Amino acid sequence: MHISVMPVESLNFWIGGDNKEKVLPGVYVDATFGEGGHSRLFLEQTDKTENVFLVALDRDSRRIEKGKNFFAKEIESGKLQLIKGNFSELPAILSSLKTKNLPVRGILFDFGLCTTQFSENRGFSFNEKEAPLDMRMSEDEELTAGQILNEWEEEALTKIIKEKGEEREGRKIARAILQKRAQGFSFEKVDDLLEVLKKITKKPWGQKIHFATKTFQALRMTVNREEESLIRGLREALDILAPGGRIVTIAFHSGEDRPVKNFFRRESRDCICPPEMPICRCDHQKTLKILTKKPLTPDEEEIKRNPNSRSAKMRVAEKI
Ligand SMILES: C[S@@+](CC[C@H](N)C(=O)[O-])C[C@H]1O[C@@H](n2cnc3c(N)ncnc32)[C@H](O)[C@@H]1O
Repeated sequence: MHISVMPVESLNFWIGGDNKEKVLPGVYVDATFGEGGHSRLFLEQTDKTENVFLVALDRDSRRIEKGKNFFAKEIESGKLQLIKGNFSELPAILSSLKTKNLPVRGILFDFGLCTTQFSENRGFSFNEKEAPLDMRMSEDEELTAGQILNEWEEEALTKIIKEKGEEREGRKIARAILQKRAQGFSFEKVDDLLEVLKKITKKPWGQKIHFATKTFQALRMTVNREEESLIRGLREALDILAPGGRIVTIAFHSGEDRPVKNFFRRESRDCICPPEMPICRCDHQKTLKILTKKPLTPDEEEIKRNPNSRSAKMRVAEKI
C-alpha cells in the first residue's frame, strides 16, 4: 500500500491554506496521481465547495485504471477528471478538458514512484530478482533498462550511472557490464544486474543504502526521461497557473530536488545575469515567490509511520 507523503502540509499549500471555506474556485491539478492519496484528501476537503475541480494525471495506465474504479462517483459528478498523460504535456492536456477556461490555482508534483509500482514485477525493485529489466512507467516509452544494459557503449553507461545515479563507481560498473556482454551474456532480469553490482558496490561492512540503489535510480531516470519531464513540467506549470496559484513539489533525491530548487530560484529573481556582469542585460522578471525558504521535511512521527518518506523534501512557490 502506498502512504501519501506530508499529506496535511502539501494539501494546505496546494489549496491555498487550511481553511476549506476559502478555497478559490477553479482547477487544481494533481500531476502525479499515483494511488490517489493526495487527490483523495483534496476531494474530501473540497467536496462541498462549488466550482472547484480536480484534474489528476499519471503516465502509468495501471494507476489510472485503478483510480477510475476507486473514484467512479467523483468522476461521474465531474468533480474529478482522471487522465493518462505525462505532466510534461500539461497545457495540451488541460486545454482538451471541459474545465479549460477556468483559472488554474494549484499544481502538486509528488515525484518518483508509488510503493505499489515497486511490487508489480516491472524491474523497479531489486527485491524482485526474477522481474524483467523493464523500468518503464508508461508502456508508451520505447526504451527499457534491458536495452540500455545490452546496447549502450561504455561512455554513455558511465555518464548516466555517475550523473543520474550519483554512483562513484559508474566507470567500473559500465566496464563490468561490457565485459559480461563480450562473453555473450544478455541482461534480462533484475538478478543479472545485481550479480554485476554486488561485486563492485557491495561493501563487506554495513551500508546505509542498498548496493544497487544508485544504479537502479540512474536506469529508471534514463528510461523515463525523468529530468526532462520534470523541467518541462515545472515550466509549463508556471505558464498555466493563475496569479497567486501555487506549485507544490515533493522530491525524494537530489536529482529531483535540485532542478526544482534551481527553477524556483531563477524564477524568483529579477536579474539572472552572471555575477560578473556589471549591469543587467537579461531583462528577466521574477514570476515566482518562494514560500518555503528551506525545503520542508517529514517530522519524526511521519518517518516512523512511513519510513519511505524519510528522504522527502517539499518546496512551494506562488506565481506572482
Ligand atoms: C510518488 S507517486 C504519487 C503518489 C500520490 N501522490 C499518492 O498520494 O498516492 C508518483 C506517481 O507519479 C507518476 N509519474 C511520474 N512521472 C510522471 C510524469 N512525468 N507524468 C505523469 N505521472 C508521472 C508515477 O507513475 C507515480 O504513479
